[in-house]
Amino acid sequence: MKDTVNQAFTLLEPLLREIGEELKEIFFSTNFEVKYKEKSELVTTADKLSEDHLIKTIKKNFPDHNILSEEVGKAHNSDSDFLWVIDPVDGTTNFAYHNPFFAIAVSLFYKNEVVLGMIYNPVLNEMYWAKKGEGAYFNGKKLQVNNNKDLETLRLTYCHGNTDKSINDAIKLYSYFKKQGSIRQLGSAGMELALVARGIIDAFVVPGALRWDVGAGILLIREAGGKVVDFTGEEWHFDSKDMLADNGKFYQQLLPIINDVL
Ligand code: IPD
Ligand code: CA
Ligand code: CA
Repeated sequence: MKDTVNQAFTLLEPLLREIGEELKEIFFSTNFEVKYKEKSELVTTADKLSEDHLIKTIKKNFPDHNILSEEVGKAHNSDSDFLWVIDPVDGTTNFAYHNPFFAIAVSLFYKNEVVLGMIYNPVLNEMYWAKKGEGAYFNGKKLQVNNNKDLETLRLTYCHGNTDKSINDAIKLYSYFKKQGSIRQLGSAGMELALVARGIIDAFVVPGALRWDVGAGILLIREAGGKVVDFTGEEWHFDSKDMLADNGKFYQQLLPIINDVL
């Protein structure tokens, strides 16, 4: 397994940088195509370009691996224990609004456990990666969550999945926490998880968490010393529905509040 993770890492780092250059060109051109897929969910030329490039390259290098990607769904199905989970542009709405807080997020699962995660923001030139058991890194520097533990100064962000329930739950959480102190929706789950791993944000909550939104970032946080649970308090796993990620100091205080509010 370790050899495959190392090979995957070696493939992925230059690949994300290459795709990042293409995304930057589209981002700064400002006249790219933006479509609505469902309700208010956007998709741009950048999402398609990034997804095609990633899937083609992964298939060529790991022909027997499974691939799941946000826009196309299952891109390859096999009996391999390896599964690539791709979010070609995490933060498409930000991208479409010319807000540079977006990223390409890719994770590799082995037997349903995330073993490699990489998140790259090409405009800010921020590369985050983690290998299971080997730590988490930001532009080559080891990551460590912060030590904050005071609810009164909690820096919390949130997002939600694509169901009505997850959106309604997110609204309930927003109204509760907004009255208590500060809460933000930053619009890129991958980048928000990276900021928890970096010690900038204390906690990040997601009702209806989707695997491509959170897979890569979960490993970053675990490897940076943080905690990722579902709303029952169990460690986040492949089939978890919701997600709370933090520096390890807030989740026990936040879980009863979240369950009460929802
Ligand atoms: C979105 C982002 C955002 C979250 C949305 C996701 P996308 O991903 O992660 O933070 O609030 O629910 O859909 O669609 O830009 O890849
Ligand atoms: Ca996403
Ligand atoms: Ca996406």
